[in-house]
Amino acid sequence: MSRQPDSTDLERFRSAIVRRTGLQFDDAKLGFLGEVLQRRLDSLGRSTDVYLRDLEGPRPAGEITALAQELTVGETYFFRNNEQFRALAEVVLPERMRVDRVPRVLRLLSAGCASGEEAYTIAIVVRETIADPSWEVAIQAVDLNPAALEKAARARYSPWALRETPPDIQRKWFRAHGRDFAPDDQVRAAVRFRGGNLAGDDPEIWQPSTYDAIFCRNVLMYFAPEQMRAAIARISRSLAPGGFLFLGHAETLRGVSDGFHLRHRHETFYYELKENGAMERPRPAPPLPVSMRSGNAIMSMDVAWVDTIREATERVTALVATSMAADIPVEPPALPWDPAPALDLLRRERFDEALDHVRAGPAALGKDPDVLLLEAALLAHSGQLAAAEDACHRLLLIDELSAGAHYLLALCREHYGHRERAGEHDRVAAYLDPSFAMPRLHLGLLARRAGDRTAACRELAQALLLLRREDASRLLLFGGGFSREALMGLCESSLKECGARA
Ligand SMILES: C[S@@+](CC[C@H](N)C(=O)[O-])C[C@H]1O[C@@H](n2cnc3c(N)ncnc32)[C@H](O)[C@@H]1O
Repeated sequence: MSRQPDSTDLERFRSAIVRRTGLQFDDAKLGFLGEVLQRRLDSLGRSTDVYLRDLEGPRPAGEITALAQELTVGETYFFRNNEQFRALAEVVLPERMRVDRVPRVLRLLSAGCASGEEAYTIAIVVRETIADPSWEVAIQAVDLNPAALEKAARARYSPWALRETPPDIQRKWFRAHGRDFAPDDQVRAAVRFRGGNLAGDDPEIWQPSTYDAIFCRNVLMYFAPEQMRAAIARISRSLAPGGFLFLGHAETLRGVSDGFHLRHRHETFYYELKENGAMERPRPAPPLPVSMRSGNAIMSMDVAWVDTIREATERVTALVATSMAADIPVEPPALPWDPAPALDLLRRERFDEALDHVRAGPAALGKDPDVLLLEAALLAHSGQLAAAEDACHRLLLIDELSAGAHYLLALCREHYGHRERAGEHDRVAAYLDPSFAMPRLHLGLLARRAGDRTAACRELAQALLLLRREDASRLLLFGGGFSREALMGLCESSLKECGARA
């Protein structure tokens, strides 16, 4: 009789899954993984050892698709996050059609298409938007789960799948089949579905410089950080120069890739590949605090800020040492630079001295994003807002996805009376880093001042939740001199004022 899988087997199973599919499962999901492993063993009639050896071997493709049916989340619907489809119609398609090419073919990819709703929505938007018959549009849709792809090919959907579809679009592009609906034949014919693994280097999916836009929404949030980086690198290489990437609304490229410009429109975010974006190396993985090492990959990109800045200084010190060895003229530091005194001075509200300490560091540090952010925060604290804005803009030139820079810009813009612009920067900061409490708090206060109680309650409640877990060093940097308790108290009293129920 074959033995029951033990914890070592389960660990091997988890590692093989993440390597083969990108999908990450934290410790809380080990029980679920154990059940899946047992089901697969029962269904194949194999021993644990043979099964795991095959899974770890070179050709486990059939088993990977079987596992995909057990392990993937297929939640999707037509016109999900419709603002992104408005951006597709109003910005992306017109911009991409301005790029001359022969033949005139636009190429779009739905990566992780599930049961097809996203790809068919793209096809409808294309039909609604492009009137010029000289353009052809090729939509490819890929998923790992064969059951989802079968449903996509069958193309029968319940009314629930159309819950966000505008009624006029429903009438125009869907046909009733009993209680279900099917997309019109023209829409169905526009999409080519195929099985494929986004965690692999499949050359048929990842042709270089090919796609005008890729939708990869609500897929990478289930990936391990390294696998997510690798997938984004593949996406970068296969987007045409200036091509666009749409992620899910809780997914960002912050800390993942420098190869994209962030675009913000219609209350939504998406990315445009930089001129040389495909050449950018993926960002090295930031070290995650131990408490955050498992769990949602994208949401957990936050790092203890002090550790980050210490690493930055170590990097710069190493850089300076290398430059000196190579005879490159870089001002050598007298001693390795230590950010601790600056942070300590910040804690004691001695901002000018803290700034002096930052500026007395090696010149190369002045170009490090973390050090620039510290300088910008100190300038903002000391009331030098024009200089703080300038530091933020210099920082954004180096790191366009800096949530901290956007938050500081929000504070500065508000000071100059530009509340709308302030809110926009806050929204960008909150999008880039969903765990960042301060932009939520600021958005709540801005909404309260504008008399928008609903938005104020929403943002303040979210801020209160985030403040409980906010990183202490980030509170020191951005909390305006207030303690966690004081900021939470501010949220609670503002919520009361807005009439929120306790
Ligand atoms: C939550 S659905 C998202 C569907 C759609 N993109 C949306 O946002 O509505 C995630 C899909 O990603 C697919 N997926 C997960 N890992 C994958 C991989 N390694 N390769 C291809 N597809 C994958 C799953 O099978 C699932 O259908």
